[in-house]
Amino acid sequence: MKARVALHKDFRVGRIDDRIYGAFLEHLGRAIYTGIYEPGHPTADDRGFRGDVLDLVRELRVPVVRYPGGNFVSAYNWEDGVGPKDQRPVRLDYAWRTRETNEVGTDEFAAWCEAAGTELMLAVNLGSRGLDEARALLEYCNHSSGSYWSDLRIKNGRREPYNVRLWCLGNEMDGPWQVGHKTAYEYGRIANETAKAMKAFDAGLELVACGSSHSFMPTFPQWEADVLDQCYENVDYLSLHMYFENYEDDYLNFLAKPVILDRYIQTVGGVIDFVKAKKRAKNDVHISFDEWNVWYHSRREDNARFKGWDDWPVAPPLTEEAYNFEDVLVVGSVLNTFIRRADRVRIACIAQLINAIAPITTEPGGRVFRQTTFYPYLLASRYGRGESLHVVVDVPCYDTEAADDVPYLDVAAVHDPAANTLSMFIVAKHPDEPTHLSVDLSGFSEAKMIEHTVIRHNDLKAVNTADNPGVVKPQLESGTVVEQGRLAATLKPRSYNLVRLAVCPLGDRGNAAVGDFISDTAIYIRQN
Ligand code: AHR
Repeated sequence: MKARVALHKDFRVGRIDDRIYGAFLEHLGRAIYTGIYEPGHPTADDRGFRGDVLDLVRELRVPVVRYPGGNFVSAYNWEDGVGPKDQRPVRLDYAWRTRETNEVGTDEFAAWCEAAGTELMLAVNLGSRGLDEARALLEYCNHSSGSYWSDLRIKNGRREPYNVRLWCLGNEMDGPWQVGHKTAYEYGRIANETAKAMKAFDAGLELVACGSSHSFMPTFPQWEADVLDQCYENVDYLSLHMYFENYEDDYLNFLAKPVILDRYIQTVGGVIDFVKAKKRAKNDVHISFDEWNVWYHSRREDNARFKGWDDWPVAPPLTEEAYNFEDVLVVGSVLNTFIRRADRVRIACIAQLINAIAPITTEPGGRVFRQTTFYPYLLASRYGRGESLHVVVDVPCYDTEAADDVPYLDVAAVHDPAANTLSMFIVAKHPDEPTHLSVDLSGFSEAKMIEHTVIRHNDLKAVNTADNPGVVKPQLESGTVVEQGRLAATLKPRSYNLVRLAVCPLGDRGNAAVGDFISDTAIYIRQN
């Protein structure tokens, strides 16, 4: 199969917000306990944070982590999780039918974020609670001193405020499964009043209102219009969620599902514009896609299991997906979609980060390993920062149940003008034909290959395990060349590709030479 791609450094979608490579951690299963926190683990520090996990999180360069839920947050009392650990109450978590020991709470998680080099995005409970508890948590986190809540933080051992900038106003409030589920009007009102109070404390906070839990929700997209009707002027983002499934075990259909994601973003963008115009508003609202991932391997079994629990276990294994090679291609396409929609999507969080629906898996007391999906996330997070470019792709398409006219090639391109690099992320979907790719690089006066990295396996269902952690991982590909302003590559069927070039923008010729780059991926592959 042949494919032609055209791009130009001046045809920009916009600057990519680094936070599209964010993640999510909920008090769910073993995400927190035996995930990030396991006192007594051989790699744990004196706060109980597992060092092996922190190393992998730093490797991913995660810019922001959303916490503490998720469904969990909608019946969570944040006050239970602060103060002396031996005085913290054990509570029932209605979302996952488990017992929450509250050993990890706001102070511990904020400390973990500092250790991981990531920003904290906090969700407040607008399900079972409301404005006042949100206001108290904000003061606890962000006020310097001299008030009840800020002095309590100081008494609990943290003098400096955390200065959390990014706040979610509840979680999935459109979902009937949510504790405190609301109609769009009810939620829009409480979101607006909470936002007003929080911005009265600090007008510079960034606030996220709940959009739809999925584009299949019966209330979508009226939910977005009705919620924004109440709170448009006081919020900065609308949160969207989407999980991808392949119950029917249909490869091409599964690979078409990111097209639904793209339409979802496009529709919500239209609703945002509509409400903005209706209200004659000056402010912009962007999308925070703060839950997304493949989630189906463990889901039905887990649902049947945890809904029957009457012993309310502490941190049981739950939603522990074993990701395979096929999932790499979908995760890659989702990340490509966020890059291409950089004008709308400013935050996105892979859900989740450790053990629960996650790219990192731990053994209690033992090893940690990288799931297959760790790698497309790693490559996009490391090399997908800069300007998102429009890409014109000329390639055959296919029709499936999920969508029609699905291109066999999914391409996103990122130009980093500071580093003078161009990164192309390409999912080659064809099940058995290689793709002979030609990219027109005439928008750059010079271009030189740095590296072509590929993730590929003959078996779509191949997984990584603690015993065999390297079954699916990046490899270097040879044979890709740049000649006379064109890149020529042969992409293997069913492959995830990152092609990185050193580039010199037109107009800079004469005062900037194309740099010599070392292949980062070669070093990474050698070290891991
Ligand atoms: O991420 C797992 C769950 O999925 C979250 O708790 C909820 O927000 C969503 O339905």
